[in-house]
Amino acid sequence: MFYLLFIAHIAKGLESSSCKLLECSKGPTQGNCIEDQGDKILISPCIDGYICEKSQFDEFGTWKNTTCEQDITATTLCKVPDGSLYTGRKCCVSPNCNSTQCTNDRCEGISEGSECIDDEQCYPGYYCKENSDSGIKICSAAETEMCSRDNQCPIGYGCNNGYCMQFHTVEVARFVERDIFCTTNFSYGGRCDYIRAFSKNAELTGDLGCDIGVNCEYLTGVESLIYETFPCLCAGISGAKGGYCGLYAEKSMEASNYFKALVYDTSSCSGYYSHTDDYEILYECGSITYETYEYAKSMISRYNYYNLYVSHALDHCSRPLGLFDPWYDQTTFSYAMYVTTYFAIVLGVY
Ligand SMILES: *[C@@H]1O[C@H](CO)[C@@H](O)[C@H](O)[C@H]1NC(C)=O
Ligand SMILES: *[C@@H]1O[C@H](CO)[C@@H](O)[C@H](O)[C@H]1NC(C)=O
Ligand SMILES: *[C@@H]1O[C@H](CO)[C@@H](O)[C@H](O)[C@H]1NC(C)=O
Repeated sequence: MFYLLFIAHIAKGLESSSCKLLECSKGPTQGNCIEDQGDKILISPCIDGYICEKSQFDEFGTWKNTTCEQDITATTLCKVPDGSLYTGRKCCVSPNCNSTQCTNDRCEGISEGSECIDDEQCYPGYYCKENSDSGIKICSAAETEMCSRDNQCPIGYGCNNGYCMQFHTVEVARFVERDIFCTTNFSYGGRCDYIRAFSKNAELTGDLGCDIGVNCEYLTGVESLIYETFPCLCAGISGAKGGYCGLYAEKSMEASNYFKALVYDTSSCSGYYSHTDDYEILYECGSITYETYEYAKSMISRYNYYNLYVSHALDHCSRPLGLFDPWYDQTTFSYAMYVTTYFAIVLGVY
C-alpha cells in the first residue's frame, strides 16, 4: 500500500512500510491512466479530450486501476446557455447570464437600487441589502466597517468578528474568527498560526525528509503545541528508506508568501465571487494577474502533492496529468512582482 498526502483524518492505521513504486509511462493513453501492475503503479496521461480522475493522488489508501474518461466539461458555454452565470463572469452568449445580457464576454449585473434576490446579481462593490422595514431587497454599496457576513464587505474583504477585514492580511499570533484572514491561511485556538515539522526531536527544514517507520510531529508555531503526530509518508520511489513529513506543508511559514500574493481589492464579479480566495475565480474575475494565477496554481498543487513533488517520482507525467508543474520557477514570479512594483513607484502610482 502506498499512501499520500493530506486528507489526514482517514486511514490513520495504514503502514507505510509497503510503499509502492510509481512510474510514468511513455505516452498518453485512452486506456488506464492508473494501473496496478503488482510490483509498481504505472501512471499515464490521457489523450486529448480525456481526463484521469485525480482523487487517488491526494488520498490515502490502495491504488485502483482507473480508466481515462471523456472530458464532459469540454462542452462549451456557447452550446449550453443555462442562465447560471452572474455579474462579471465570462460568458459566450446572452442566455448564459442570469441578467440575460452578455457584453464583451462578461455577464452584466443589475444596477444600484434595483431589486435583487442574491448578492451575485449586483454590480461589483455592491450587495443585495434587505430593507428592515419593507423587507424589499435592493443592490446597495458595500459597508465599509460593520458587517454580519462577507458579501456585505468591500471586494476582497470578509466579516471578521463583526468588522470588514481584508483576506490574508492578519499576521501570526493575532486573533481572528476564520483562517482566511491570516497571512498563513491557518489559525489555532483563535489566533493566526503556522505549523513546524519535527522528527526524532529535531525540527525539519529544506525538503522535510524523514525515515520511513518513524513519526513526524507537527507543532504549532506560536505556542509549540502538538497539532498532530503522523508516520513519515512515502515518496513513490521503490525501496526508498526515506519519506517526508509534508502533511502540513501548506501551513508552513514559507507558504504564507503564496497567500499574501492572493490579497486583492478589485473584481469584475460580485457576491461570493469577489469574497473568496479561490484562485481560479479570482483570475476569471480579474482580481489577480495571470502571473499571480500561475504562481498560486503551481504552489497549491505542489503543496497538495508534496511528496510526489519533492521526490520527483512523477516529474515526467505530473504536468500532463494536471497534478502539478515540476518545472515552474518561483523566481519568475518574484521577478514579475518586483518589476511591476518598481514601475508603479517610478510612475508614481503608489
Ligand atoms: C489492473 O490492470 C492490470 C493490467 O490490465 C491487471 O493485470 C490487474 O489485474 C488489474 N488489477 C485489478 C485490481 O483489477
Ligand atoms: C437569476 O437568479 C435568481 C436567483 O438569484 C433566480 O431567481 C432567477 O430565476 C435567475 N434568472 C435567470 C434568467 O436564470
Ligand atoms: C485556505 O484554507 C482553506 C481551509 O481552511 C482552504 O479551503 C482554502 O482553499 C485555502 N486557501 C487557498 C488560497 O489555498
